[in-house]
Amino acid sequence: MTTPLTPTPEQWAQLERAARLAAKRAYVPYSRFAVGAAILDSQGGIHPGCNVENASYGLGNCAERTAIYSARVLHDLQEIISVVVYTPTARATTPCGACRQVLNEFGPAMAVRCVCDGDEVIETTLDQLLPHAFGPKNLTDAAG
Ligand code: THU
Repeated sequence: MTTPLTPTPEQWAQLERAARLAAKRAYVPYSRFAVGAAILDSQGGIHPGCNVENASYGLGNCAERTAIYSARVLHDLQEIISVVVYTPTARATTPCGACRQVLNEFGPAMAVRCVCDGDEVIETTLDQLLPHAFGPKNLTDAAG
């Protein structure tokens, strides 16, 4: 178990605005399902991302992965506090399995909030979404 990190209410609101805005930039000619995500780093920076699809369908990249790669790799921000994910749905939707694994690589303790076009909000943690995760620590634990 990891101790969950918590943004302030104002930071949650900023993240939600950024995620909704990012969805407007999504490249989704195949699914027409425009998703936005926004990551908060420990310095208060906000890193948005949207999904980007491809004519070779399997190469599409989810919004969460676009956002975390920007925050943690492009901007080299070591500590990730939280992510907000917006989906264009009536009910809130949690990140797919692939994104859970990728988020875990870079921010295993992050708080997760999922928002949608309806009133439902899911608030959880990555630890809850991906219990007993396999991550970088397991490789350094390897014998030999
Ligand atoms: N998608 C995301 O970007 N994030 C999610 O959490 C769920 C799914 C994308 C992948 C694909 O471009 C489209 O939504 C339909 O699955």
